[in-house]
Formats: sequence, C-alpha cells, structure tokens
Amino acid sequence: MPACLLAAVTLLLLAGCRQDMQVQPYQRPLVESDFYADRRSARPILSGTVARGHLEADAYFYTGRIGGNDGDYLPFPVTAEVMARGQQRYNIYCAPCHSEVGDGYGMIVQRGFKRPPSYHIDRLRKAPIGYFFDVMTNGFGAMPDYSEQVSAADRWAIAAYIRALQLSQHATKADVPTGEQVASTPPPGVFIMPAYDTQGATTAASTPPPPKAAPAKGGEQKP
Ligand code: HEC
Repeated sequence: MPACLLAAVTLLLLAGCRQDMQVQPYQRPLVESDFYADRRSARPILSGTVARGHLEADAYFYTGRIGGNDGDYLPFPVTAEVMARGQQRYNIYCAPCHSEVGDGYGMIVQRGFKRPPSYHIDRLRKAPIGYFFDVMTNGFGAMPDYSEQVSAADRWAIAAYIRALQLSQHATKADVPTGEQVASTPPPGVFIMPAYDTQGATTAASTPPPPKAAPAKGGEQKP
C-alpha cells in the first residue's frame, strides 16, 4: 500500500512539472517581465553599442560638412568608375525631376511637380560639392531626401557627376587641353548620315502631298 501511495504522489509531482511545448520559457515581445528591475522584457541596447559597419566615424563622408560648413572636396578619389556610377545613379534618382542635363525639366516636372532650379545657375555652380551631398542627405524644400534609397558613397558619386554636368554646360574651347581640338567638322572621308526620317513624318510635315483630283460629280468613290 505505501508503495502505491508513493507512486501516486510521484505522478502528481511529475504532472506539476509538466511543460507543454506551446508554453515556452521566453518573453513574448514587449510583455512585462518580473525578472528585470525596470520590468521591461525588451532590453535596451547597451550604451556605446555600434552595429557592424555603422560606426560612421568619418563625419565628412556621412554629412558633407566640416564644422557646420559644406566641404568642397570628394572624400575619395574620383575615378572613371565613380563618374560612371554617379551618372547611372543620377539618371535613376534625380533625372526624373532634374532632367538628364540638370535643367530642371524632368518628366515629373513636365507632369506638374514643382520645377527645381537648374544646376547651371550661378548660385549652384558656385555651391560647394558638399552642398549637393547635403541636399540629397536631408532633402531641400519640396524635394524629399534620398538617404534611404542612395548610399553615402553613391550620393558622393552623384555629386561628382553633377559637377561634371555643370562643367559640360559651361565648357569652352579653352577647356580643351592644348594640342587637342574640338572637332567641329568630320575628318576627310567620313560620311555623315542624313537625319533619320521616321515614316515620312518629317517630310510629310514640310512638303504636303499633291492634292488629289476632285472626284467626278455623282461618280462613286471606291474605298
Ligand atoms: C521628385 C522630384 C525630385 C527628385 C527625384 C530630385 N529632386 Fe532635387 N529638387 C526637387 C525640387 C522640387 C527642388 C526645389 C525644392 C524647393 O525649392 O522647394 C529640388 C532642388 C534640388 C537642389 C537645389 C537646392 C537649392 O539650393 O536650390 C539640388 C542640388 C537637388 N535638388 C539635387 C537633387 C539630387 C542630387 C537628386 C537625386 C538624388 C534630386 N535632387 C532628386 C525635386 C527633385
């Protein structure tokens, strides 16, 4: 009999310890905890914690500013790759409003969005390169910021490309290195194709087709 009782008690104790799989020893998100003194189960990040790759120690690279003023240099060397990347990113993220040449007549503007100033006005030609980085990073007036969509390195590449766009619109023969020429006539023997004529659209407009002879009175017109 005592053995029977012992078995029954043991069973009862075991049942008390039972833990079903659906009840697991973890904290549900944001539930109150009686383990921590502040009763929060969601623990704050330890002060001074920096996620990998997010130290952002190079302040100029991430802000374009030096002591509150826009800097006027690129934080890395400008190579042909940087310019190509800047051109590609610019045409994706900026040209829809600013246009591919930067005059502010992009397609979204043609559809009614506020027209941005042309990059080729004096004020923006004189603006330091860090200013362009800053506008992309923080937005400007009606323009949203692009810090989420465009990485810091790409924002710099775009800024470099905008500088090139500005130069391209104000270049003179004097900007061409000595010994080189701005070609204005094709070299001998090069055949220049005439402008491509799309389905007679251009000629049709300039030279109307001869008028058709008026149909004879009462005569039937075949379609
Ligand atoms: C949705 C349209 C739109 C896009 C896309 C856009 N911008 Fe703008 N941007 C504007 C408008 C509008 C203004 C003028 C804002 C104002 O004056 O309120 C502006 C102004 C600017 C200015 C001039 C600020 C000044 O001092 O006048 C710069 C520089 C500029 N944008 C750079 C960029 C760059 C670089 C990109 C691409 C990353 C870009 N924008 C993408 C609409 C756009």
